[in-house]
Amino acid sequence: MGNARAIAAKFDWSKYKTFVDVGAAQGCVPVQLATVHKHLTGFGFDLPAVKPVFEEYVAANRLTDRVKFIAGDFFKQDLPHADVIVMGHIMHDWDLPAKKMLLKKAYNAVPIGGAVIVYDAMIDNDRRENAFGLMMSLNMLIETTGGFDYTCADGTGWMQETGFRQIHTEPLAGRTRCWSASSRISRIQSAPCRINSAATSGRKTM
Ligand SMILES: C[S@@+](CC[C@H](N)C(=O)[O-])C[C@H]1O[C@@H](n2cnc3c(N)ncnc32)[C@H](O)[C@@H]1O
Repeated sequence: MGNARAIAAKFDWSKYKTFVDVGAAQGCVPVQLATVHKHLTGFGFDLPAVKPVFEEYVAANRLTDRVKFIAGDFFKQDLPHADVIVMGHIMHDWDLPAKKMLLKKAYNAVPIGGAVIVYDAMIDNDRRENAFGLMMSLNMLIETTGGFDYTCADGTGWMQETGFRQIHTEPLAGRTRCWSASSRISRIQSAPCRINSAATSGRKTM
């Protein structure tokens, strides 16, 4: 709940109308965003089995008109399009190729001027202070086939490699959480960058 509240409070949602929370689980983030920002319409994207739990939570919060569930598998399909894509505690579940695949799919799902928010228990860049992040990474290495936590610098580098610009990192709830919001920039600004071909492919601008 703390992270959802922080994302609702710290991010400038006034510029956006729609969001998709990828791996939304019960729907804590979508419900919080729609509760605080009445102009937003949002979706939780998750595996089909999650649908009843998500819809029950959304209904309990009286948000069924603005928060819906989209069943899907991010390994098998593209992400639904929206102004903002949120991925919380998703990237750390997977190995590096899957992390980069998820960032690429998120990049493709937002319009020019859209944003992607990623949050995990990110490790400090020197890998010396954030014991929680380091232990979380060890936990992921034990519990998953290739998952690991990463530093803010790692995440920023992968985002830059994907084509994102204007990357910010900020703390969320607690001492250890960080978030990175990465906007696609305008067509003119992006002309020298790798995102140019995607940006000029006829997709709508915001
Ligand atoms: C660790 S939970 C994260 C929940 C929430 N976003 C948070 O911040 O706490 C990971 C979520 O990803 C979903 N998930 C796992 N594999 C998925 C896939 N292939 N496609 C879509 N969602 C998936 C799980 O069902 C689960 O809800």
